[in-house]
Amino acid sequence: MRVCHLHLNSYRNYDHLDLKVTSQLCVIVGANAQGKTNLLEAVYYLATARSFRAHKDDELIKHGVDEAFLGCTVDREVNPSEIRIRLTRNRPKQITVNARPLRRHLDLFGHLNVVTFSPDDLQLVKGGPGERRRFLDMELSQVSGAYRHDIATYQRVLRQRNNLLKEISERRADPELLQAWDLQLLDTGCRIMARRATAVKQLAHFARLVHHEITRGGERLTIRYRPFFGSTDEVGEGEWEDSESLRARFAKEIKRLRQFEMRRGLTLVGPQRDDLEFLINDQDVRSFGSQGQQRTCVLATKLAEIEFMRAQTGMYPVLLLDDVMSELDENRRHYFLGTVSGRVQTFITATGLETFPQEFLSQSQVIRIVRGKLS
Ligand SMILES: Nc1ncnc2c1ncn2[C@@H]1O[C@H](COP(=O)(O)OP(=O)(O)OP(=O)(O)O)[C@@H](O)[C@H]1O
Ligand SMILES: [Mg+2]
Repeated sequence: MRVCHLHLNSYRNYDHLDLKVTSQLCVIVGANAQGKTNLLEAVYYLATARSFRAHKDDELIKHGVDEAFLGCTVDREVNPSEIRIRLTRNRPKQITVNARPLRRHLDLFGHLNVVTFSPDDLQLVKGGPGERRRFLDMELSQVSGAYRHDIATYQRVLRQRNNLLKEISERRADPELLQAWDLQLLDTGCRIMARRATAVKQLAHFARLVHHEITRGGERLTIRYRPFFGSTDEVGEGEWEDSESLRARFAKEIKRLRQFEMRRGLTLVGPQRDDLEFLINDQDVRSFGSQGQQRTCVLATKLAEIEFMRAQTGMYPVLLLDDVMSELDENRRHYFLGTVSGRVQTFITATGLETFPQEFLSQSQVIRIVRGKLS
């Protein structure tokens, strides 16, 4: 899929932007603080209805104005989509796809799929488990409506179960009431975990191939799903396909942690505590990997994510690259641009053009941004 038209009004430092995207490769150049990342953020927002850096939607509205507008046309093999989002201060946002208002923001997913890559993504390896779960959820939410639905249901069940546990810990509710919530936690939780496990297997497969090529066969990358109850080794390869054993394992944890949960007033079991492991030649990248190895690991994971999404949907997502050229060495830069160019629509920001190979630039649309305007 590709974005062929982008339209912004009173968004961040843009008064008005009308951009016709004419190439698979779009290079966004400008000095610092001119609006390059803002532009990528706009595309991301049109795909997910959330920002990759703002905490509140209001931050996206231009200072001194009350309403912002974002719109884009997405070209795909079958039906093109027209996505429009209106943001109004202190009001819920309004989203339409092909002029039809969306009842739930969740339904925006899937119309435009994106993969982002920026220096901050190093956190995927170095940061806490929350970063890795967010990565997994983002990837899976974009390709699976069922997953999105399960995540939304799970969050609701978790919130309610936590409320009840809190009341039990304060002796204001009957512990018997937990059983109904246990069952819902188990049902939805197991579906989420099974989906994550299969996805990670596929992702790991792609990532290993890419990583093998980047390191010219020197290193072996392993990505493993780590369910909340411990390593997958313990469960045994293949057992994930058998939902009964997953269910039994989950149920056992609910029982085992019952007393702790009632004392703490908090749910301690479930996929909100899952994690991912990255290993290079069987060593944990987070603890033992060099900075360069960690970067390569993230790069391979991101490239694998693109392949994963295509395998799932039949279409490549749109790639949003913020400031990555300066981070990669010559060899990785070439590999990276070579893999994506011609296949994946790519928006890439940079402060100058000197880091781009000539053959890449000759196929690109170059956009210059100065203080929120095309120049
Ligand atoms: N809501 C807003 N209203 C007006 N201006 C805003 C708003 N939000 C951010 N900005 C401005 O946008 C600019 C930052 O834009 P952006 O982060 O896209 O820069 P950039 O071109 O990516 O720079 P760098 O090269 O440093 O990463 C800042 O000057 C900031 O003040
Ligand atoms: Mg920036």
